[in-house]
Amino acid sequence: LQAREGRQGNVSRTGGRIVVGFSQVGAESGWRIANSESIKQAAKDEGIELLFVEADQRQEKQIETIRSFIEQKVDVIAFAPVVATGWEGILKEAKAAGIPVILSDRAVEGVDPSLYTTFIGGDFVEEGRRAARWLAAKTKGWPTVNIVELEGTIGSAPAIDRKKGFDEISKDHPAFKVLYSASGDFTEVQGKEAMQAALAIYGGDIQVVYAHNDDMALGAIQAIEEFGLKPGRDILVVSIDATRAAFKAMLEGKLNCAVECTPLLGPQLMQAVKWHMAGRQLPIRIITSEEVFPSELAAQEYSSRRY
Ligand code: AHR
Repeated sequence: LQAREGRQGNVSRTGGRIVVGFSQVGAESGWRIANSESIKQAAKDEGIELLFVEADQRQEKQIETIRSFIEQKVDVIAFAPVVATGWEGILKEAKAAGIPVILSDRAVEGVDPSLYTTFIGGDFVEEGRRAARWLAAKTKGWPTVNIVELEGTIGSAPAIDRKKGFDEISKDHPAFKVLYSASGDFTEVQGKEAMQAALAIYGGDIQVVYAHNDDMALGAIQAIEEFGLKPGRDILVVSIDATRAAFKAMLEGKLNCAVECTPLLGPQLMQAVKWHMAGRQLPIRIITSEEVFPSELAAQEYSSRRY
C-alpha cells in the first residue's frame, strides 16, 4: 500500500469520495472469491474508493494492513477477521485514531463491542444447526450415523460456531457419532487430505461427511471416489456455503445438502459505510438471511445461483 497525502493529511480523495480500507482473509475458497467480488463491485456502484488487501489467511498480515489503513487515515476500516481472537490491540489503535471499524463476515471474541461499529454476516451457529437438522431428518431410523467432520480454519469464527451449532442438535440424536474430525482450513486440497486420512482409518464405516464449507466437501468427494465409494450414496455429504460448485455436485448426485452462507455482503457493507458517514446509528449486528438447499431443490435453483 502506498501512503498518499491529501487534505488534512488523509489519503487523497477523488471528488471528496469516502475511502474504505478492507482487509480480506485471502482467497481460500469459492465463497471467498465471490465475497471479494461482491465487495469490490458494491464499492464501485456506491462511488466509494476501496483499498483492498488480501491476507493469505494470516492474522499478522491483517494487523499490518489495518495499521497501514490507520496511517493512511482512511474514513472507514472493514475487515473479515481470519481468526476470532487477538484483535483488541489493533482495534484500540483504530479507535484512538478516530477511525470506525466494521466487521464483515466473521466475528471477533474477547473484544469490547465499543471497538467496532457493526458486524455484518451470517449466523454460523445456526448454519451448523441447520446441517445437523437436515442430517437428522435424512437419517431418521438409522441405528448408527458415523460422521467425519471437516472443520474450517482453526480458531476462526465459522469453524468454532459451525461445530457448536452441529453439536447442539447432535446431542438429541444418540445415533450421531463423530468418528473423525480434522481441519481442512476451508480449502479443497486440505479437505481432500483430511478425508483421505479418515478413510484410511475408518473406510466403509463412514456414513456421513459434514464439511464446514463446500470446498472441503468437494475435496472429500474426490477422496471418496478415489477410495472406490460413491459420494452422495455410500457416504452422505452435507456442507455449508451453497456455491454454484456445490449445486453442480448436487446435480451430479455427489452432494446431498448445501446450507447457505451468503458471500454477497458488499451492498450491505457499503450501505453501512454510507449510513455511518452520514451520522446514522448502526445496529451492532446485521444478520444476513440464508436458506437450506437439499439436493432435491438443486435443479430448480441452479440457474439462479449468483455465486
Ligand atoms: O467465513 C466464511 C467462510 O470462509 C466460508 O464458509 C468459507 O468458504 C470461507 O473460506
